[in-house]
Amino acid sequence: MTTPVVFITGASGGIGRETALAFARAGYHVCGLARRQDQLEALGAEIANLPQAHGGFLAVAGDVRDAGAVQEAARRTVGKFGRLDVLVANAGIGHSGTVVEADWEDLRTVIETNIDGVLHGIRACVPAMRRAGGGHILIVSSIVATVHTPYTATYAASKAFVSSLAGSLRLELEDDKIQVTDLLVGRTHTDFNVNRLGPIKRDTSGLPTMGADQVAEAIVAAARGRPRRVVFRLFDRLVLLGGALVPGIMARLAKRQYQPQD
Ligand SMILES: NC(=O)c1ccc[n+]([C@@H]2O[C@H](COP(=O)([O-])OP(=O)(O)OC[C@H]3O[C@@H](n4cnc5c(N)ncnc54)[C@H](OP(=O)(O)O)[C@@H]3O)[C@@H](O)[C@H]2O)c1
Repeated sequence: MTTPVVFITGASGGIGRETALAFARAGYHVCGLARRQDQLEALGAEIANLPQAHGGFLAVAGDVRDAGAVQEAARRTVGKFGRLDVLVANAGIGHSGTVVEADWEDLRTVIETNIDGVLHGIRACVPAMRRAGGGHILIVSSIVATVHTPYTATYAASKAFVSSLAGSLRLELEDDKIQVTDLLVGRTHTDFNVNRLGPIKRDTSGLPTMGADQVAEAIVAAARGRPRRVVFRLFDRLVLLGGALVPGIMARLAKRQYQPQD
């Protein structure tokens, strides 16, 4: 039996880290890419101590905004494990602030990380998937891709971009036997809000929150089932339904939730 290989961007923390652990427990070889080498090394040590993990781990320090660095990471993955079957394009960063007054460097970081970074991952991994005779791309988008959301517009639009990309890419790559899954993640307990750029602080304490391990297990299940889209829980399905049926009310609720807090 061939051991499958997964390449995960943003594996040093949060959802990416838990997803790396979940794939390792499921018997995959794992390559984790992120900027913080020390966190990746700690992850590698944890994977090495997992009784269920039979695959290897490759840590690659790099920035998804740098196309060459992502290409090199994919090359090193194939060099170490002989193939590359699954990409989890997860690295991302949030932003809270108005479109007009926001620091341009912050907006640029969001666009380059959440859009360019996903494109770089796809373009780096697909050639190896084609050589392997197929593969699977899982794109970490967000439920906010589906609702018009003020005060985090650039972040929400970056997620709408990758969700749209997932749908088109699925058609482009179907003849290569490469599946594409759009992961519409809802609020998850990670350092996302701490790392979020921009001046506006939000009080999100009233919102239901998932564990990153729960999201990770669902991502591994999606790698097996290869659905077109994953919505992780009932609350998020209701948000989607509300966005489709009563978009005006949902937009008002979103505006209240993302408004600056005193
Ligand atoms: N948490 C939520 O509520 C939530 C909801 C919906 C969607 N999401 C999405 O889930 C994904 C993961 O977020 P999270 O909640 O796990 O946040 P997190 O805890 O802040 O983790 C973000 C990860 O992305 C990596 N990263 C950020 N910029 C990078 C860059 N330029 N190059 C390489 N890696 C980079 C970080 O690693 P380094 O800093 O080491 O580079 C880290 O591993 C994101 O795409 C986010 O938009 C999260």
